[in-house]
Amino acid sequence: MDMRQQIADLVKEMLNAAYPGAEGLPEDIASLLEVPPEAHMGDYAFPCFRLSKALRMGPPMIAKKLSEAVNKPEIARVECVGGYLNFFFNRENFAKDLMGAIMAAPEKWGSSKEGEGKTVCIDYSSINIAKRFHIGHLSTTVIGNALKRIYEFQGWKTVGINHLGDWGTQFGKMVCAYKKWGVKEKVEKDGVEEMNRLYVRFHEEAEKDPALEDEGRAWFKKIEEGDAEALEIFHWFKDVTLKDAMKVYDTLGITFDSYAGESFYVDKTDRVVNELKEKGLLEESEGALIVDLENEKMPPCLIIKRDGTTIYATRDLAAIFYRKDTYNFDKCLYVVAYQQDLHFRQIFSVVDKMGYDWAKDGLIHVAFGMVSYEGQTLATRSGHVVYLEDLLRRAQEKALAIMQEKSPNLENKEEAARQVGVGAVVYATLQNNRIKDIDFWWDRALNFDGETGPYVQYTHARCASVLRKAPESNVAADYSVLTDDEAQALLRLLSRFPEAVEEACLRNEPSIVTRATTEIAKAYNKYYYEHRILDDNAAATAARLDLTRACQQVIKTGLYLIGVEAPERM
Ligand code: ARG
Repeated sequence: MDMRQQIADLVKEMLNAAYPGAEGLPEDIASLLEVPPEAHMGDYAFPCFRLSKALRMGPPMIAKKLSEAVNKPEIARVECVGGYLNFFFNRENFAKDLMGAIMAAPEKWGSSKEGEGKTVCIDYSSINIAKRFHIGHLSTTVIGNALKRIYEFQGWKTVGINHLGDWGTQFGKMVCAYKKWGVKEKVEKDGVEEMNRLYVRFHEEAEKDPALEDEGRAWFKKIEEGDAEALEIFHWFKDVTLKDAMKVYDTLGITFDSYAGESFYVDKTDRVVNELKEKGLLEESEGALIVDLENEKMPPCLIIKRDGTTIYATRDLAAIFYRKDTYNFDKCLYVVAYQQDLHFRQIFSVVDKMGYDWAKDGLIHVAFGMVSYEGQTLATRSGHVVYLEDLLRRAQEKALAIMQEKSPNLENKEEAARQVGVGAVVYATLQNNRIKDIDFWWDRALNFDGETGPYVQYTHARCASVLRKAPESNVAADYSVLTDDEAQALLRLLSRFPEAVEEACLRNEPSIVTRATTEIAKAYNKYYYEHRILDDNAAATAARLDLTRACQQVIKTGLYLIGVEAPERM
């Protein structure tokens, strides 16, 4: 049941009736339809401005003429307001149609087959080995996960890739430091923390004894050449880092299909370099090899350094071709902070210059803003780092304290607190457009009555509780009772949920789903306060219960799509 399309078809019919044979009219009416800012202005509005040239008539006149041609049971009335034609649904009809459509398969509401046969690679989280997982990597992790779920819901095949930062001379230094001062048990016990200590020590000692730098480089060379001992330590560092990160991924319910990181592509860079050479795109500059991007108004893209080694960009280029060959993606998304904007524009341009026409629409940098924590920006040097593991643990502790106060009788509080604490963090990250900077505050994220994760989760639990209280009944629902303002507002939002998911997918913007879900929760609560759900009229009660069921399911879907769990009780 697609109301937008129904109205669009109707507008087409009206145009044909009012202006038979007119030429130059827009084809895609559905995309022209607008949602009026307030409910009393109608359910959809058709702006007549775009027709004025073809019909040689002012927009208000067109609206008027069209309005005379409306004659459909789905439409209760139309209003002409300043060049707009506002449509008001027949409430009873709308309630019946929509509820029928949702209840036929509630868990599928908002899904589509749009992406069938298409594949999207999503490069997200992409943490760095031997570094702790801090809130600088929170956005990429949760935005990427949400996009993966949203694309899947739209029928795409998805490939989630954690492009590990596991290559660079620093790993030689770390192995060197471990060989000199490392203790196996310590690394095993403290993980990345201990690796960091070794790395810091390396730099301290290297100040006193610069020869150490050469030793570090020599160890990196050993890693490059596949020396057994060097590789063993390096791989072990990787395992330890990933084991730490896995705790965070498990808490967030996030999985990946591939952990092929930078090191995986080192031996796959030749093919790119050779092809660039063959295509005459590689130039020498001060001993290095670059691709000139002057026409693209960008600094050159460095491919091979003076010492003959590759850089981040070279390995990313190799990854693009590897992914294209392996997954044959239609889109490849890079969920990476906006600071890397130039890097991505450069490498995408290089692929474009190589003559691959899929680079233009297929390679997409999904950029996002910075996260700060209670007003303080993240600074590794000053030691002001918030680790994700700690953040998520504190979130659960705080949620538990709130619940102990709010719902002392709740069984299994720990489980609910886990869902609510983690959900609050994820929700706060996906609440606003991704490009906006985020300032994370506990009070705000964990507030049960604002636009927050806990609020939406609470509404879900409220629906579940209403349904638990409902008596058994097999009386058919009479949806014609859902004509009051509150029910209609709710129905309107439910009917637009599929559009929100579609748009979120199209614009790679999970916050659209967050907002749509929050609006539904707010509208349900409003309905709940104004109306009795259970009364003596069985058919009417059944309708209100179905509305509750629909809301519960759609809220659950919306939360799922942004990576938040939906507790049944809290
Ligand atoms: N590891 C990088 C960082 O933390 C992000 C990698 C993003 N993905 C990529 N293919 N470049 O900054």
